[in-house]
Amino acid sequence: MRIPGPRRVTGRLRPPGDKSVSHRALLLGALADGTSTISGLSDGDDVARTARAVSALGARIDGPRITGGRDRLHAPADVVDCGNSGTAIRLLAGVSASLPFRTVLDGDGSVRTRPMGRVTEPLAVMGARIDSDYAPLTIDGGGLHGIDYTPRVPSAQVKSAILLAGLGAEGDTVVREPVPTRAHTEELLALCGADIEVGPGVARVRASKLAPFALDIPGDPSQAAFWIVAACLAPGSDLTVAPIYVGPARTAFIDVLLRMGADLEIGPGTVRARYSALHPTDIGGAEVPGLIDEIPVLAVAAAMADGISVVRDAAELRVKESDRIEATVAMLQAFGVVAEPTADGLAVNGTGVLTGGGVVDSRGDHRIAMAAAVAGLVADGGVTIEGWESVATSYPGFEEDLRRCAS
Ligand code: S3P
Repeated sequence: MRIPGPRRVTGRLRPPGDKSVSHRALLLGALADGTSTISGLSDGDDVARTARAVSALGARIDGPRITGGRDRLHAPADVVDCGNSGTAIRLLAGVSASLPFRTVLDGDGSVRTRPMGRVTEPLAVMGARIDSDYAPLTIDGGGLHGIDYTPRVPSAQVKSAILLAGLGAEGDTVVREPVPTRAHTEELLALCGADIEVGPGVARVRASKLAPFALDIPGDPSQAAFWIVAACLAPGSDLTVAPIYVGPARTAFIDVLLRMGADLEIGPGTVRARYSALHPTDIGGAEVPGLIDEIPVLAVAAAMADGISVVRDAAELRVKESDRIEATVAMLQAFGVVAEPTADGLAVNGTGVLTGGGVVDSRGDHRIAMAAAVAGLVADGGVTIEGWESVATSYPGFEEDLRRCAS
């Protein structure tokens, strides 16, 4: 993929449906008794994998309608291939643990290297039989009991896997979070009438029959982030993205951009971004889970700010679709930026200049590819991105949006 630069971005853009919400809507649609209606699903391959998985488990998907219910679910005939999606495999592990049959979950080379112990351990304590801490996972589900659990890493995927398993467990299932993470599972469980209570730092669920629901999925703030940062960095830009999800632990990147001096106008589910000079910043602590997916593109913003920016407390980046600490640093270096990895983050020495004409390897990671595209839009001479096809996991329409908004 060749991104020509420099370009500005203008107009109005609707990002794809939120990926995190899409996975959960399909899973809960499969568990709810009856027919739910879901519009605005993410059109990426990750969510398509979850759709295929719930179909293999016996849910029926017909356009925007999904018909489910525990009684109609059965053992899948084949291995369930979650592709590149860590969210799909971890959330499906939680659902499968509660179903009284064997499910085998697998994924691509990246998913096979990602740690699954963070979900298999609590699910095993609940009573599931799982043969491994790495994909492929053979899960013999059913007969679960609730647990009171504090995940060892702040992770919405872990919290969600446990809560989803708790829907089919005897007694209370409690997840405690010292640092808050995205709350989509709790929000959607409430929407389908689950027996759930949510308080500060804690969610408690009991075995529940779920009612079918209607849901219009808002745009994905993590995909909007690429365009918002592009508009902040490219002189002459004026871009509005809407509608986007603006609930808990998803919009911390907006707070970071504001403290860097970005010119953002925020409305309900809407962000208008215009070019302005940015200052460096430090990112760390409790804000990290709320912007973990946006760090590669925020690092591009840091490279365009004058001075040193540091990201800390983000060791989780090392176990994403790629080692995103190393991949982000290498991406920035391809633009002539002085950046270095640390154990739990990175340091970027911003100069306000990105040198174009280079080549970036996405390392099979959609967010590295799209962050490199944003940098390429700002750099004189643009950039060539290898492994661009990874973008299809979350944002197949990225190129079309690029053609419409970049000039
Ligand atoms: C997600 C949670 C985050 C995030 C991922 C999606 C989710 O992962 O990075 O892209 O939908 O729950 P962790 O829960 O592992 O932090």
